[in-house]
Amino acid sequence: MNALPQEKWYILGAGSIGCLWAASLCRKGLPVTLILREHRLKSEQHQQALTLSAEDETHHFQVNTTTSAHLKHPISRLIVCTKAQDALPALESLRPHLANTCKILLLQNGMGSQHAIAENFSDQTIWAGSSTDGAYLETPFHVVHAGKGRSWVGPMTTSPPGTFDELLNNFPLAVETCEHIEEKLWQKLAINCCINGLTALFNCRNGELLDGAERQQQLEHLIEETALILQQSGMENPHLKEQVFNVCHATANNISSTCQDARLGRKTELPFINGFLINRASALNLPLPAHQSLLQQLREKNIE
Ligand SMILES: NC(=O)c1ccc[n+]([C@@H]2O[C@H](COP(=O)([O-])OP(=O)(O)OC[C@H]3O[C@@H](n4cnc5c(N)ncnc54)[C@H](OP(=O)(O)O)[C@@H]3O)[C@@H](O)[C@H]2O)c1
Repeated sequence: MNALPQEKWYILGAGSIGCLWAASLCRKGLPVTLILREHRLKSEQHQQALTLSAEDETHHFQVNTTTSAHLKHPISRLIVCTKAQDALPALESLRPHLANTCKILLLQNGMGSQHAIAENFSDQTIWAGSSTDGAYLETPFHVVHAGKGRSWVGPMTTSPPGTFDELLNNFPLAVETCEHIEEKLWQKLAINCCINGLTALFNCRNGELLDGAERQQQLEHLIEETALILQQSGMENPHLKEQVFNVCHATANNISSTCQDARLGRKTELPFINGFLINRASALNLPLPAHQSLLQQLREKNIE
């Protein structure tokens, strides 16, 4: 009996996380195509060298590359690896190419983009992920897996059993399924709400948020407000303060992605982090003065 042809995996966005997941699929022997923006596809070049460095190992792969305009086959498996603000428009550009039964995994930080996609693509199987992996691009298509973490993936819409099983066994990244992925998204959102914007405001490393009474007081106000919204949303976390302080200590030398984006004058993901929390609070009729004031202070510094 002939074996069924292997399903192709598509990755939308060839940044740090896109290259990390593409290389990990390659390591497992699964066929991968990276979908790039038009300006990144060199003419007629549809094969790309991809390098993954992790600890003292380096792996080299060849992957297919394409753009939404060049796609020829329907996509049945897709991992979306753009920033949160780009996820919905990027996916819209692929809409005509999605198979009816397409399985889509969203790996954006923050919250809001996943819900918007689940609503706009309600006929597809949509999963979301939350990850503690850390990766950066040394050069384009050379990703460094700098912090080995864990990823949880789970359904945002009803989905057939075994939807993303290939990511669970013999996969180079540590991936687990999670029935209630919203809870994982909320947990990470809560910590990011307290740390990320503040590091951009003070242009500092995570550990430096604990330097001095003024910074700690601002941090504590953000924690109190975040804890209130968690509680009102059925996601109570009595250990939030301890967790935020632990993250500041454990990642003391890290520069948060928000602070990095701010330094480079790029749009941050804050509308999907603190912005999401503020929207939730206003739906609950609760004021969030510390968060409002943080975003206002950032806007005054042109950090959006
Ligand atoms: N990096 C980490 O360690 C890490 C860890 C956990 C979670 N995350 C989350 O993972 C997500 C991705 O982060 P990242 O660090 O990989 O960001 P990134 O390096 O900025 O990569 C995002 C990529 O998306 C591409 N993109 C945007 N719109 C597109 C479109 N319409 N078509 C094709 N490609 C498009 C960008 O293309 P261009 O190159 O053309 O701009 C860029 O290459 C974020 O939500 C982030 O918060 C990251």
